[in-house]
Formats: sequence, C-alpha cells, structure tokens
Amino acid sequence: MDEIEQGRRFLKAWRWREARALETDQKRGIPHPPLQKPVPEGTQLVELVDPERFSFSGPSVVEAIARRRSHRSFSQEPLTLEEVSFLLWATQGVQRIVREGIASLRTVPSAGARHPFETYLAVLRVQGLKPGLYRYLPLDHKLVFLRAEEGLDDKISEACLGQRFVGEAAVVWAWAAVPYRTEWRYSVFSHKVIAIDAGHVCQNLYLACEVVGAGTCGVGAYDQAKADALFGLDGNEEFVVYLAPVGKLPQSP
Ligand SMILES: Cc1cc2nc3c(=O)[nH]c(=O)nc-3n(C[C@H](O)[C@H](O)[C@H](O)COP(=O)(O)O)c2cc1C
Repeated sequence: MDEIEQGRRFLKAWRWREARALETDQKRGIPHPPLQKPVPEGTQLVELVDPERFSFSGPSVVEAIARRRSHRSFSQEPLTLEEVSFLLWATQGVQRIVREGIASLRTVPSAGARHPFETYLAVLRVQGLKPGLYRYLPLDHKLVFLRAEEGLDDKISEACLGQRFVGEAAVVWAWAAVPYRTEWRYSVFSHKVIAIDAGHVCQNLYLACEVVGAGTCGVGAYDQAKADALFGLDGNEEFVVYLAPVGKLPQSP
C-alpha cells in the first residue's frame, strides 16, 4: 500500500465487524489509564480562576462563529489569568466524571469520552504567571509549572518550522496525544478519532478567543522531535499533535 493509500484508509470508516470482535484492553479487564497524567506528590500547583467566577459577557455564540478567523498578528498586551483560565476550561474543562471514573465529560466531545490529550502551555506574557512551560490539570482546573526556558519565544517558533508569529503570541497552546487512553477502548481503530478529537478542542479555542478579544491560529506544521523535546515528551506514549498561539489582537486603525 503506498503512503497516499495508507493515509486515505486512515480517514475511512472503521471496519465495524472487525472492531466489535477486537480484543481490546478494556475487554480484557485491564484497568483504565488515568484520565490525566499524574503529578508527583508535593508538586506546587498554580490556582486558576474558577469557571463559576468568569466575568465575561459576550459576544453571542452566533457572533463568535460569524467572526472566527485565524490570526497571525498579536499585540504585546498580556493575557490575564482569568482569560487563560477561561480558554483552558473552554478547551478541556471537566464537567463530570462518569462510569465509576473510567471517563470524563468535558466542554468538548471525544470518541468514547476518552479525552486523549494533555494540554501544555508555553507562557510568554500572562499576568500573574512567570514565563515558562506549564501543563493543565483538567480534573483539578489547575496548572503545573514545569520549568522556565531561556529563549522560549524563539524555541517555540523553531519547533513550528520557523513560523515567527507563534513566538510572538502571549501564550502557545500545545496538545499532546496520550494515544493509549483511546487505544485502551478502541485499539487499532483509535487514531482517526484522536485526530478528529483534536479539531473539536481547537475549534473551541478559536470561539473562546472571540470572547476575550484574542485571536489564535491552529498550527499543524511543526517539527515533531523539537516540539516533543521542548515539552519534555517521550514521543511515543505522549507526543504533540497540534499547537495554537494565542494573543490579544492589535487595535484596528
Ligand atoms: C489542522 C490545521 C493546521 C493548520 N496549520 C497551520 C500552520 O501550521 N500555519 C498557519 O499559518 N496556519 C495553519 N492553519 C490555519 C489555516 O491556514 C487557516 O485555517 C486557513 O487559512 C483558513 O483561514 P481561517 O481559519 O481564517 O478561515 C491550520 C489550520 C488547521 C485547521
């Protein structure tokens, strides 16, 4: 099978008869993987603004959809912690845990409610957050500070194949897939739906940006090894699949 054919096959419908007969780890009774990557005990977590205390009022969903655009030019204005809290919640916020802890329901849909992503942030200009690399804990609605990184703006642009606007953002979202979360349930049929799941997440980021006067741009052109290394990922059990720089929009003249 050539690569084009392989790629097209990846996009086609599951072979349901085979999928149903498949021996998955779930059917074998293997315990489900954690819904979020654990943090070492004693790690100091960064508090975010509680979704019940968000103070944003508009625009309407209709207006947000009508206005949505990819933005590649950002102002120097920092984002507030409330804005970042909102954008994190809008993209991965947990509404409830279901099926005795096997799955979670969130602000975005996910095949089998597996939610196979970890969210990383490269923070460049956010009020109340020191610049550096962070990971979001959706179950706790908190951030883990991973480390400061010298020249982060240049390094994140370089990881995105030299796309300069990425490093000019206030904060760059990076979604890493933990494929086993979906594979546990769907085995070899997981990978198409993981890719579809990522689209839902970034669309919510686009729409939520409209609410806070910010802009974003989905970034699929990146260097796998550089992006994984920057966020400290092993590149197999967890690897970057999609990025999105976010910044306040320059005032129109
Ligand atoms: C999966 C995906 C990957 C993308 N990757 C990039 C990218 O690497 N660099 C970039 O400048 N734009 C990227 N874009 C943005 C598209 O170029 C943009 O959506 C398209 O030009 C249409 O513009 P609009 O989003 O304003 O409608 C990507 C969009 C998607 C959905």
